[in-house]
Amino acid sequence: MVLRLADVVKVFPGVRALDGVQLEVRAGEVHCLLGQNGAGKSTLIKVLAGVHHADAGEITWQGEPFAPATPQAAMRAGIATIYQELDLVDDLSVAENAFLGHEPSRLGFTRRRVSAYKTKEILARLGHAEITPRRMVRTLPAAAKQVVSMARALSHDARLIVMDEPSAVLAHDEVDNLFRIIRELTSQGIAVIYISHRLDEIREIGDRVTVLKDGRTTAANLPARTTPTRELVGRMTGRSIEYVFPPVTGTPGETPLLVVDNLTRSGEFAEASLTVRPGEIVGIAGLVGSGRSELLETIYGARRAESGTVTVDGAPVRGVGAAVRAGMGMAPEERKSQALLLDEPVFKNMTLASFARFAKVGFTDAGGERAAAERTADQLELRPRDVVRPVRTLSGGNQQKVVVGRWLLGGTRLLLLDEPTRGVDVGARAELYQVIRDLAANGVGVLLVSSEVPEVLGLADRVLVMREGRLIHEAPAGEIDEDTVLNLVMAGSLLEGEPA
Ligand SMILES: Nc1ncnc2c1ncn2[C@@H]1O[C@H](COP(=O)(O)OP(=O)(O)OP(=O)(O)O)[C@@H](O)[C@H]1O
Ligand SMILES: [Mg+2]
Repeated sequence: MVLRLADVVKVFPGVRALDGVQLEVRAGEVHCLLGQNGAGKSTLIKVLAGVHHADAGEITWQGEPFAPATPQAAMRAGIATIYQELDLVDDLSVAENAFLGHEPSRLGFTRRRVSAYKTKEILARLGHAEITPRRMVRTLPAAAKQVVSMARALSHDARLIVMDEPSAVLAHDEVDNLFRIIRELTSQGIAVIYISHRLDEIREIGDRVTVLKDGRTTAANLPARTTPTRELVGRMTGRSIEYVFPPVTGTPGETPLLVVDNLTRSGEFAEASLTVRPGEIVGIAGLVGSGRSELLETIYGARRAESGTVTVDGAPVRGVGAAVRAGMGMAPEERKSQALLLDEPVFKNMTLASFARFAKVGFTDAGGERAAAERTADQLELRPRDVVRPVRTLSGGNQQKVVVGRWLLGGTRLLLLDEPTRGVDVGARAELYQVIRDLAANGVGVLLVSSEVPEVLGLADRVLVMREGRLIHEAPAGEIDEDTVLNLVMAGSLLEGEPA
């Protein structure tokens, strides 16, 4: 046993985020933390990392009482943390980030050279030698930033590495690489606390599971591989939720609402053509990096197409302003940087159009604005159900609900959703699927991007498969299965049908 938490409590104004947590972690194990959005997982690891301080309870680390005053103290004690919201400094290099706060000093070398050298070594060990230590972190894609966070964790001699939803920004093969690294760490006796909403990952990499609900431990040390899903979900939610998709209700209209014709941005995607009809949900499946997000952003006008056209109701649309006026709404992939005003209250964020300067908010009084936001909060089961609280104080999954909730309020006719359920727990996913389906039933056209194939298949009426910047296949959702999609996505082999 390397770590033991007994009756740990952490109170924020108005919320008992941790309300008596028990946790035991052994050396060399992968200990998974499971719980709904807002259950207290991130708060718990921030207490271990010295970011928050427990109000009550005891923590024992390697046999000694432990209460880190600062993140540096936690690191010195051998606990490294990879946060849910990446916390790298964009304007520093990869090496500077990796060694931030504990730059090595040694005679004969400048510290910079030593840290560059060591960073290079660690990156190679992580299987990412292509990331150079001198590169500015700002220029890296999200998955590479994750690797840098990991490098920072390994740059300390950590005995416990805590990972808060590390796979959320990773593509399939990158998750495999992450698991390889985790196995390497645990074989050296390093303990890992792993947080994820994906049960398949927990089964693959986890040894034991502790479940949190409303800040309390509801089950401890369950075997990760053999505990039935029903039991895990029951402990998380207190009820048994099936992972179901709502039935298709309305029929899509005949005339296309959105027509995308031959859209190209070199290096990102080429000759993309697709249509979305009113009331239709079209899903794009593909790996992270296949060009899906770029395509969505270009349709929305946030990126400029090199060639090709976007029309809504037969009228050409260019630029975000025109897109918003044409009734387009977009929930982007990186909610933190692109979508949310973290210090503003939930209701302000919900009633704001995606880019503030194009806002066409129909509310004249703050009261109406709040009431509308409260109805949306109910629909999405926002937790805590408090629309005045700053978005910064919401858990990751609840922040995502706010991004999606915005589009339930405006007069959106065409909704572009990029990874709408990222970080959203199993229970709340069902609510979100229902909300999206209801929008379609009311005639809204939806274009959805997700790396979770079952989500695309379960939610969409029609499925497009994207690979390396090209739409290579199209099929009604009922006529394509997960294996086919995965084969197309990975190998690009056409098992059936004609390319789109
Ligand atoms: N800085 C803060 N100030 C006030 N309340 C907070 C703060 N951070 C978290 N909370 C609240 O504490 C509770 C637990 O949040 P936490 O982020 O730990 O959840 P989580 O289990 O990580 O959820 P998710 O799966 O969505 O990431 C939530 O009700 C959240 O709103
Ligand atoms: Mg969290």
